[in-house]
Order: sequence, then structure tokens, then C-alpha cells
Amino acid sequence: MHFYQHSCLTVLLIILPFTSCLFLNTITPNQPLKDGDVLISTRKKFALGFFSPGNSHNRYVGIWYHQIPEQTVVWVANRDNPLNDTSGALAIDNHGGLLLFGKNRSFPFWSTNVSIPAANISMVKLLDVGNLVLLGNNTEESLLWQSFDHPTDTILPSMKFGWKRVTGLDNIATSWKSMDDPGTGNYSYWFKRNGNPQLFLSEGRAPRWRTGSWIGIGWSGIPQMSVRFIFNVTFMSNQDEVWVMYCLYNESTLTRLVVDESGTVYRSTWLEERKRWVRFYSAPPEKCDAYEFCGPNGVCNPVNNDGFECTCLPGFDPRSPKDWYLRDGSGGCVRKQELNRTCGNKEGFVKLARVKVPDTSKAHVNMNISLKSCGEECLRNCTCTAYSSATVSEGCITWHDDLVDARTYSNWGQDLYVRVDSITLAQYLKNSKNSSINKIGKVGIALSSFAILILFLFFIYWWRKTKTKAKEQRSENVYTTSIYFNDNSGENEYEECTNNSELTLFDLNTIAAATNNFSIDNKLGEGGFGSVYRGVFSDGKEIAVKRLSKNSGQGNKEFKNEVLLISKLQHKNLVRVLGCCIQGVEKMLIYEYLPNKSLDVFIFDKEKRGLLDWRKRFDIICGIARAMLYLHHDSRLRIIHRDLKTANVLLDANLNPKISDFGMARIFGEDEIEVNTHRVVGTYGYMSPEYAMKGRYSIKSDVYSFGVMVLEIITGKKNSGYCHENLHSNLMAHVWDLWKEGRALEIIDSSIDERFGSAALRCITIGLLCVQEHAINRPNMSEIVLMLSNEATLPNPKQPAFVSGDPLTSERLNSVNHVTCTEENKFRGGKIRDAWRMCIDDEWSQGAERYRFEDVVSFYVFFYGFTCIFRIIM
Ligand SMILES: *[C@@H]1O[C@H](CO)[C@@H](O)[C@H](O)[C@H]1NC(C)=O
Ligand SMILES: *[C@@H]1O[C@H](CO)[C@@H](O)[C@H](O)[C@H]1NC(C)=O
Ligand SMILES: *[C@@H]1O[C@H](CO)[C@@H](O)[C@H](O)[C@H]1NC(C)=O
Repeated sequence: MHFYQHSCLTVLLIILPFTSCLFLNTITPNQPLKDGDVLISTRKKFALGFFSPGNSHNRYVGIWYHQIPEQTVVWVANRDNPLNDTSGALAIDNHGGLLLFGKNRSFPFWSTNVSIPAANISMVKLLDVGNLVLLGNNTEESLLWQSFDHPTDTILPSMKFGWKRVTGLDNIATSWKSMDDPGTGNYSYWFKRNGNPQLFLSEGRAPRWRTGSWIGIGWSGIPQMSVRFIFNVTFMSNQDEVWVMYCLYNESTLTRLVVDESGTVYRSTWLEERKRWVRFYSAPPEKCDAYEFCGPNGVCNPVNNDGFECTCLPGFDPRSPKDWYLRDGSGGCVRKQELNRTCGNKEGFVKLARVKVPDTSKAHVNMNISLKSCGEECLRNCTCTAYSSATVSEGCITWHDDLVDARTYSNWGQDLYVRVDSITLAQYLKNSKNSSINKIGKVGIALSSFAILILFLFFIYWWRKTKTKAKEQRSENVYTTSIYFNDNSGENEYEECTNNSELTLFDLNTIAAATNNFSIDNKLGEGGFGSVYRGVFSDGKEIAVKRLSKNSGQGNKEFKNEVLLISKLQHKNLVRVLGCCIQGVEKMLIYEYLPNKSLDVFIFDKEKRGLLDWRKRFDIICGIARAMLYLHHDSRLRIIHRDLKTANVLLDANLNPKISDFGMARIFGEDEIEVNTHRVVGTYGYMSPEYAMKGRYSIKSDVYSFGVMVLEIITGKKNSGYCHENLHSNLMAHVWDLWKEGRALEIIDSSIDERFGSAALRCITIGLLCVQEHAINRPNMSEIVLMLSNEATLPNPKQPAFVSGDPLTSERLNSVNHVTCTEENKFRGGKIRDAWRMCIDDEWSQGAERYRFEDVVSFYVFFYGFTCIFRIIM
């Protein structure tokens, strides 16, 4: 079967005589393709023509996707022999072959180099799968040459990638030299001819990674492939040929496998909604996948307890214990006892479960015998070192040499049976017997610990409930007897009794009338502790009413806190509270009404962001900074807001910012610098690392949130839930990388005029200074205000928080999810979400999430409880 049958074979010659650039459908002897012309496939999916890659001026003939804006070249004809002017033409010569000429017709730059039977009239077509074919007389049998047999660096769907045992024709995908040079680079992806077929990624001929052999449902080294969401994979190995082919379920999906200049193989898919390529697999994915990471007879386990990935196979010891101790496993392992001496002397096999089986280049495959007879055969043959089933269900594969490049997985892989001498075998048997005797006892322990765990959780639940109840009752009393907000129930925050005489008390009836009896039409939003309504007094004055939900025990305290604080604060960049309303269980705060909602509604919205030009954005940043300066240093109290985010910055009619939502704020004593809390509240993505991880907060935690906001305002992108093709886990990481390379201008929001580039850059630097990992390095608000007013020179920021992350965690997550895109994954307390979905779906991160310390603790108790029980049972 050949692939050009996909497309319609009618010959169509479209010539547009009045344009300089021709769109062709075919190349015939009379119709060459000149530089500037484009050959387009029938359904316009691919185009062939001359191009110059990157910053180069050389001309190459290549195939690219016709319908996407980003020129993505999938095949290059003259990759190592470019033209240096635009005199090139692709033509069919007298003998019927396809040639690329420059000025000198007797000196081709590239040719198909096939021997053509005489008297054939050949023709060239570009098929809709991206295959350039040379046809003899326009019939299926007449395929003379196809570009799919000569891949460059890209493997496309519908392409048979492999080698023909008969003709020896080998498909090798080789990386470009660089972005500017499609010449043959260092890295190749190809089928190894010996043994059981495997695909190798190599640097020169030195292997870097192998897919492992085909085990029926996928490659043994690509666990992710068992999930086939966009294509179906066919693998063929017979006497004539070996190949693999990816066929799309939906032909309009654009996906490609690329060997890139940095030595990775990646698969990416075009996302039309985002107008860009997204990588969803990249190899080698983990340290353990690097070829022969643990040397011969070593096995790599990415989650080894002691943090060193390498162990020896059963019956083997490290070749060099010193290197091993220094955590260099590349020397591998040697037999404890020479096999030959013990051959036929009661040796046996130890099973290793969930393994990417060793390199099969020298292994022997027999598809006709069962696993049991495979074992018997291996035992009889003294050179046999291990065996396994060839696919997940059948066949036999035996190794007769060192076992190279094995690794283990947690939920993928095959069983590998390793030959061991009688002593090792006895040790293993003893261990496994012990464990089976203990099993019953262990199940008992597991069950009882589970029961204890449940009781413990019940107790916590009960304790919390009664505590809240008591608190509620007490607060109730406070409210009905006086309007003194004296909180002595909890954390000793306010010692003094505060008489809020500055505050107006509103009547519930007035508020109900103003908000149309809290009608759903008047509802502005839902906060953490209740709903917010818009209201109009009878005199026409507009208000916003925050109505505390009746059953939120949490909210009581936050409410009092807010009333107490905000009534004492007067600043034009803080939202103004007009009064409160307390009647029975109803508690409400009455604010001035701000018609423009919050800042996030503007900066993250495709249309509204245009309303915020540079001037406006800078004013907003300065407004927020001034208000924070007031909170931190200039007000009568020292206040830490703790939940600064764009959603809590409201905009008035003139788009002036006003900080709102003081429900989480804390008052600091004059000499207090830092406080520890067990209750981490705030919004993910804006929390500083020391606060999120250790519960330590200070004015510098607010500074951190401010930095995140500045970066968001300048770039128009959200920090959390941020995805970038280079796998940047968050906005800060991406900005930081660009800033280091002096390319930060690239990420500035497009609504900011280029003239203000340097000013925006200055803001980015200030933002980066605020999000530095260590609180001590971050500037305080008075320094920031000076920096903003251009009166201070800026120091160089150090690396922001959450950029390097916990390497262990992120690596592990990488292996699970293929794509790790949000800082959430790197945050120990955060919930791990489906990273793929996160990448696709921006909307997902719209709702801000609040994590409480208690929730995190309960989650951990559950998680570790279960893991523990699971381990004991296993
Ligand atoms: C074309 O190239 C050949 C081989 O390099 C050379 O002998 C010949 O003179 C060239 N012809 C022209 C017109 O430059
Ligand atoms: C294929 O994908 C396109 C675009 O995503 C979609 O419009 C079309 O309905 C899909 N076709 C099938 C058969 O699912
Ligand atoms: C052991 O197996 C290898 C590979 O299959 C084979 O070449 C060799 O002849 C066998 N040796 C014996 C003694 O059967």
C-alpha cells in the first residue's frame, strides 16, 4: 500500500498569469517550480516551495504546513547544499528525475537520484499527508520516489518509518544543525537493525535513549503511549521490513514528531485556539531513561529510597563500590559468582516486576513458545542471562550477554526473569517466604491502623465542630449586647476594646430595600465568606453590600476584623467602607460602589485589556504601591493584607485602583517583624514561599504578592495556571528566563505601546525584585515607591521563588504527567491536577482557590495513611 492514494490523482494545472507568484498543483516537465512559486496539496494542508530558515539568507526547498501562521518546515530537500540566491528551480529533467538547479543547469544542487525506466512521463505531486511523490505514468504502480522515504527531522502521521530488509533503505530522522541551518545535525532517530527492533535516539552513533522494543500495546519505554488519544499506532516487523506508522483518528489534527537540535525527540500538536504548537511528549523524559545510566547489569529506579537511582540486578554487585558510593552508577555491576562455574548447579530466576526490559539489540526472540517453556529453555542454555515475554501477552525473548539499560516503573513495564546462582536464589526465596508468612499479620496491622486513622479524623472533626459552635455562641452574645468588637476567643489579636463610633450603623430594612431584598439580579459576586450585592439608596447613592453567610463560623472573625481595620483606614487607594449592619444573625458591610469591578476582569480579558494603556497600567501600579505603603508604614496601625491579588484590586469609574477585602488582614505591633501561623490563608499563586510552606508572614509576603501583580499587569498573563511551550511552570519563571537573556520586552502585553518599552522593562525588574525567593532580598514598599518614581537605581534581581522548585517532586511529576505546567505541581501542599488538561484549558484557573493549613494536613494524613497501609499489604 502506498500513501499517495489518499489524495485525488486528477491532474490540475492552476496558473494565475497575472501574479508573480504561482500556486501550482503539480510539477511536470514543462512546468518547473521556481523560487517564489508554491506547490500546494489538494486539500491545501501542505505546501512545497523555497524558504530561508531563521536568520539565514540561504535558499532551501522544503515542505511546510500551509494553513498555520507559524512556518513549520517538515521536510527539506537540499538540507546540506543550499542555494545562495533566488535563481533556484525544481524541475523534471530529460530522464524523468526531479532535480534542483541553480544558475548552472549542468550542476544540480539536489536530485531524487532514482533510475527511471525509459519512455516514462513523470510528474510530481504533493499529497495531503505532506508526502512529495514522483509518479511515472500516474498510476499506483508507478511510484518512483517519495519524500516519506527520506525524512529530514520530522516524522509525520501516515509515514511508514523504518527500514526495508530487502532493499536496505533506511529511514533516519536527523536533527537540524541549528534553527538557521537545516543541514544534517548531530542527533538521529532510527531503528536499530540487530535483535528485536527498537528505535534509538543517538548522538552520532552513541545511543542517548531507546524506545525499548514493541510489546504489542506500545513501546516498552514509553508508558504514555498506552493512552492513544489522537492516533493509532501500527507496528510491523516481518522478513521484508520493519516499520511503525501513526494514523490520526481525526485527519484535521496536526501533529508531528521532531528530533531537535538539543538532542530530544518531541511530539507536538497544533492547538488552533492558541495558535501555537504544544509539546506533549519529550524524550528522554527522565534521568533513568538516559541510555545505560546505571551501566551494564544495573537497573535504574527513579524512586529509590536513598535518593540514588541505581541498583544492581539480583546476583550482581557494583563493579566499583567507590564510584557507587559517590553516586556514579555508570560503571555498572558484575556477577557475584561467575555463571559458568555454577551452570547446571541449582540456579534459577528472580523476577523483577514492572521493568523496561534491557536493550534487545543482542537478544533472541521466539514468538512461538510460551513464557514457561521460555524459562526452561533459558535455564538449559548456560549463556542465557535473563528472559521475558516478548510482548505483554506472548512470545519469548532471551538475553545472552550483559543486561543493559533496564529501568523500573511504578505502573508500567514487563516482568524480567534474571538468572541467579543457587545462593542468591536461596536468599531471595527466603525473603519472599518471610514476607508471605507475615502477610496475614501485616493485613491485621493495616486494618487496625486504618481504624485508628478513621477514629482520629473523627475526633478532629468533632473537636473543630464544637470549637466553632462555642465561638459562634460567644460572638452572638457580643453582637447583641454591644457593638464592641472584642475578640478574645482566639488568637489574642486585639487587646483593646474598640468602640467604632466612626462607623455608621445601617438598618437591615434599609439595606434590604436598597438591594431589592438581596435579589439575584443585584448580586455582584460570591466572596470567600458571603455574597456581594449592589444596592441603591432612595437618594440614588450606590453601594456595595457584603453579606456574611450565616453559617460560616470562619467568617465571623474575618468580618469583625474587616470592620475594625477598615474603619480606621483612610486612603484614596483603599476601598471606603460606609458602615455596617448587624441584626440577629445578619452581618453586613456597606462599601462605596465601584462600577468597574476588579483589575483581573480587565487585564486578563482579550477585549478589555485594550482599555489599559501604559499610562493607566503604571498609574494602577503606583496606586497599589501607595496604598500598600500606607498600610505597611504610614497608617496608625501596621497592617499586612495577606490576600493581595488582582481580584482584590477594584477600579473606580476612572480606573483608579482601590484595594479591598481586608478579611484576612492582620495588625502588626510596631516592633513585630514576622509572625508564624498555623493557618495559611491566601490565594495560590500570590503567596510567598515562606508563607505558603512555613506559615511565616511579614510585610515582605505582601511585597511578594505585589511583585506578582506587577508582572501580571505588565504582561497581561496570569501567574498561576500559566503554561508555556518551553514548560515554564509559571509566569515568574518565564519572565525570569527572558529577563536574564535580555529578552523581557517580548512578554510585555501587546496593548502597551512600544515607546514605553523601557519603562515597562523597569517595572518588570521591580516585579522580579519583589518576588525574589528570600524575603530579606525583597525591597520594602517605601523603596518600591522610590523605584517607581525613577529615583532609585535598580539592583539586579536574584532568582524568583518557585522557579527551580523541588527537583525531586517536579521530576517525578514530570514522569507521571508528561507535561508539568503550573507551579501548583511544585507546591507541596497544592493539589496535583491533570497537567494536560491544565495546558489545554485556560479557563480552568479562573477560580481562585484558597488552601487552608488544616485542609493540607488532613489531605496529608489521608494520603500517607493510605500509602502506608498499601505498602504494608504489598
Ligand atoms: C557549470 O558548471 C560546470 C561544472 O562546475 C562548469 O564546467 C561550467 O563551466 C559551468 N557553466 C557555466 C555557464 O557557468
Ligand atoms: C476533527 O477535528 C475538527 C477540528 O478539531 C472538528 O471540527 C471535526 O468535527 C473533527 N472530525 C471528527 C470526525 O471528529
Ligand atoms: C544458547 O542460545 C544461543 C542463542 O539462542 C544459541 O546460539 C546457542 O547455541 C545456545 N546454546 C546451547 C548450548 O543450546
